[in-house]
Amino acid sequence: MIKKCLFPAAGYGTRFLPATKAMPKEMLPVVNKPLIQYGVEEALDAGLSQISIVTGRGKRALEDHFDISYELENQIKGTDKEKYLVGIRRLLDECSFSYTRQTEMKGLGHAILTGQPLIGDEPFAVVLADDLCVNPDGDGVLTQMVKLYNQFRCSIVAIQEVDPQETNKYGVIAGDMIRDDIYRVTNMVEKPKPEDAPSNLAIIGRYILTPDIFDIIKNTEPGKGGEVQITDALMQQAKDGCVLAYKFKGQRFDCGGAEGYIDATNFCFENYYKSGKAY
Ligand code: UTP
Repeated sequence: MIKKCLFPAAGYGTRFLPATKAMPKEMLPVVNKPLIQYGVEEALDAGLSQISIVTGRGKRALEDHFDISYELENQIKGTDKEKYLVGIRRLLDECSFSYTRQTEMKGLGHAILTGQPLIGDEPFAVVLADDLCVNPDGDGVLTQMVKLYNQFRCSIVAIQEVDPQETNKYGVIAGDMIRDDIYRVTNMVEKPKPEDAPSNLAIIGRYILTPDIFDIIKNTEPGKGGEVQITDALMQQAKDGCVLAYKFKGQRFDCGGAEGYIDATNFCFENYYKSGKAY
């Protein structure tokens, strides 16, 4: 049973400057909720209630968000504004939150390794909260992946087809198709130029990882951009054993940049906010 979900949230968020100068990217609101709250909701819906967050300097707002604000609670007690806090209260009641700090931003692989003391020796999920994933008519993406994990018991990355000209923004896989939506990974390249990409199947910000990944990351040299890349560690894990890539059902918005963020805002406004499902 997977119970833990790790949120690496220590990055600088340079694509969204100046908004992210003093505020964590993960706290950017999509309509009325910060990105990280959507991610934690998706995790809890998948049965993952032990939330571990890797933070960094200037990220304290994340901890404050997942805590009770007594002054505020007192202020709105008994008014119709209490409804706005129903969703976040559910998360506080049903989840536990633990934090650790990444002191040097050495890449996503390094951020995941920094979370090891919070995860221990068990399989876990990873959510990059700036990838907002929705599937209004069915299971959330993490729920889909946990179901797959229970069947296959190995690391799984979520993938989607992207414009072949945009492979240099993603980790890209090649693999043997074992079901119409599942590949067994045979190759994985971080941010390849379009001409070097093994396919247009790009890894997005949802992973299930088995705990042997920690030792593999420890032995992974810094790769593209001088950062320790989870893609490189996963490639090693695929060589040693098995990594699956799963074409998820639903939609993903890259909220780390303005275009995806605006699309996500419009989507959530139309599909959740207007129908009163946004708290
Ligand atoms: P990104 O590649 O989106 O980097 O990281 P970033 O710094 O957040 O944003 P840009 O590209 O500068 O705009 C992917 C995820 O990995 C986390 C980020 O917080 C984000 O969730 N991350 C990245 C870390 O936690 N630590 C790192 O050293 C790097």
